[in-house]
Amino acid sequence: MYDKSRVEISDDIIFVGADDPELEIFESQYPTEGISYNSYVILDDKIAIMDTVDERGSGQFFDNLKNVLKDKKPDYLIVQHMEPDHSENVEKLAKMYPDMKIVGSALAKTILNQFFETDFSSVFQVVSEGETLSLGKHTLQFFTAPMVHWPEVIVTWEQTEKVLFSADAFGTFSALENNEEWIADASHYYFNIVGKHGAPVQALLAKAKNLDIKVIAPLHGPVHKDDIDFIIEKYDRWSRYEPDRTGIFIPYASIHGNTKKAALQFARELEEAGETVVTMDLTEEDVTEAVEQAFLYDRMVVFAATYDLEIFPAMNDLLHHLKIKNFQKRKVGIVENGSWAPAAGKKMKEYFDAMKDITVVEPMITIRSARKAADDEKFKALAEAMK
Ligand code: FEO
Repeated sequence: MYDKSRVEISDDIIFVGADDPELEIFESQYPTEGISYNSYVILDDKIAIMDTVDERGSGQFFDNLKNVLKDKKPDYLIVQHMEPDHSENVEKLAKMYPDMKIVGSALAKTILNQFFETDFSSVFQVVSEGETLSLGKHTLQFFTAPMVHWPEVIVTWEQTEKVLFSADAFGTFSALENNEEWIADASHYYFNIVGKHGAPVQALLAKAKNLDIKVIAPLHGPVHKDDIDFIIEKYDRWSRYEPDRTGIFIPYASIHGNTKKAALQFARELEEAGETVVTMDLTEEDVTEAVEQAFLYDRMVVFAATYDLEIFPAMNDLLHHLKIKNFQKRKVGIVENGSWAPAAGKKMKEYFDAMKDITVVEPMITIRSARKAADDEKFKALAEAMK
C-alpha cells in the first residue's frame, strides 16, 4: 500500500486514482516497477473529476470514487489527456452519470469519439485557452499544452488552492508504493515520454511561470509540493536539451565481447583522467534506459560492432531512438569494430550528422577484431578530443 501523503492535496481535492505496482512494461515499451494513474475529485457546489484511469486501475478507481462521492453525482469530468491510460474509463463513467459534462479541448472531443462507439458530442463541453469553469469556491482555468504529450492536452489551474493539474508533465514511472526517490523515475519518464517535445514543454513552462503554484498534480507518480522549483528547473533544463550533468556516457553493442572490452578499457582510462563515466551494455539493458543516460550527460562515446555491413542491432536501436527523440546539443565520439569490412562507424556518423548540433569529434576509431596496444595513441587522442 502506498503512503497516501504522496498524492494528498486537500480536504476538497481528493485522490481517486489507482496504483499499479504489478505493471512491468508501460505502454508496451518502458520497463518500470509499476505506475500510478492519478485522478482527483474536486468537491464543491459542483463536483469535478480530473481524468479517469487505465483499465488496469478500474477497480480501485470506482471504489475510490464511490467512497468519496457517496450518493453525490459528479457534474464534470475534465479530460486533460486522451491517451487510454487516462481515458479508458470515460465511457463507463459517462454511462453511470449521463448528466455529467465532459470537458476538454476540441481535439479531445474528436479523439474521444474515435476511441469509443458512444458519440459523446451532446455532453462534451469544449474549452479553449484561458477559459474558466467555476465549481463554487474552486475555479478551474484551462491552458492548452499541445504535444505534452499528445496534441489535445490541456492542463488545469485550480485558482483557489493553487493546484496545477499538469497532465503527463512532471510525471514519473514507478508505483506509488515503491519509494520516495523519484527523480531517476522522473528523468527516465521525461526523456522517453515527453523528451521529443522540448519546445512545447518550454511553452507550457512559460504559462506556468505566471502562476503561484502550491501543488503540481501530474497524471503519474507523486504530487509535487516542496520540490516545485526543483522539478520546474529540471524540466526547463531538459526541455532546452541542456545536459543534466557533466560526464561521458559510453553505450556499447558487442557481439563476442571484444567491443565491450575496448569500451570498458576506454572508460577506465577516462576515469583515471578524472572523468565521470557511465557505461551501458546495450545487449543487456533496455534501450529506454540508454536514451535517458544519453540525454542526461553532456558527452557520449558509442562503441559498436559491424554486423551485416550495418550497425550491430542493439546500437542501431539506440541511435534510432535518439533520432526520433530529437537528441541534440552534445559532443559525441565514435568507435567501430570490424574484422574484415568495418561499416558501423560510417553508419553511426550518418545518424549523428542528421541530428541537430551534434559535434562528432575526431578521430573516429576503427578497431580490427580487438583493441591492441597499437590502438592506444588513437584512444588517447579521442580522450583528449572529448574534453
Ligand atoms: Fe500517461 Fe500520455 O499518457
